[in-house]
Amino acid sequence: MNPLKHVAIIMDGNGRWGLKNKGSRNAGHKAGLKTVEKIIKETIKNKIKFLTLYAFSTENWKRPKREINFLFNLLENFLVSQIDDLHKQNIKLKIIGIKKFSRKLNALLNSSEKKTLKNTKLQINLALNYGSKTELLDAFILLRKNKDSINEKNLVKYLHTKNIPDPDFLIRTGNTKRLSNFLLWQLAYSEIFFEKKLWPEFNEKDYNRIIKNYKKIKRNFGNI
Ligand code: FPP
Repeated sequence: MNPLKHVAIIMDGNGRWGLKNKGSRNAGHKAGLKTVEKIIKETIKNKIKFLTLYAFSTENWKRPKREINFLFNLLENFLVSQIDDLHKQNIKLKIIGIKKFSRKLNALLNSSEKKTLKNTKLQINLALNYGSKTELLDAFILLRKNKDSINEKNLVKYLHTKNIPDPDFLIRTGNTKRLSNFLLWQLAYSEIFFEKKLWPEFNEKDYNRIIKNYKKIKRNFGNI
């Protein structure tokens, strides 16, 4: 059976779900947050150590201001109300991406990371203002600036995922098959599961089915 340390998820389909079921995209984001909570619990039950969630990409700034504000308010309220509980559950929160938000949100993200820094049960990597191409370009710039030789070992030191093992598998919900500038380097050998369900419909049963299927895969990493 394959070891399982790290799951990455592209939580796609909130907007479509919200429009279809509640008449607004933002209602879909609110419902999507409930799925986030369910999946965190199930990740702990499965003793998985790292969960990386794509919450906001560098491309998502193109969305209407109203939707962007709603998303960041949702995140802010989630952190204010839940960070103590996450901390009690021994969960570590790490932001991957570039923290260029309001001063208030930046401070909240920093304090949440600081508070949970030493926790060991589960590490949640929340990708916010994250884009893989920017991450890689910045890493190359740092390699050059520090006159490091260009090799894999040196490059990964400058990725936002430094010290985090590569994802064993990626789930993308929402019936779309693409990577959307997410962890392009880190997913090089990950298994990929594309799910038809929209993120707010995705549940523990779906997650456990994927985990079970992943464990059965014969992973060769180029070998035979
Ligand atoms: C993609 O669906 C989803 C997002 C861009 C936002 C993800 C946010 C959440 C799951 C809720 C908030 C999470 C936290 C941690 C506070 P989409 O809007 O692109 O859906 P669509 O493809 O149907 O338009």
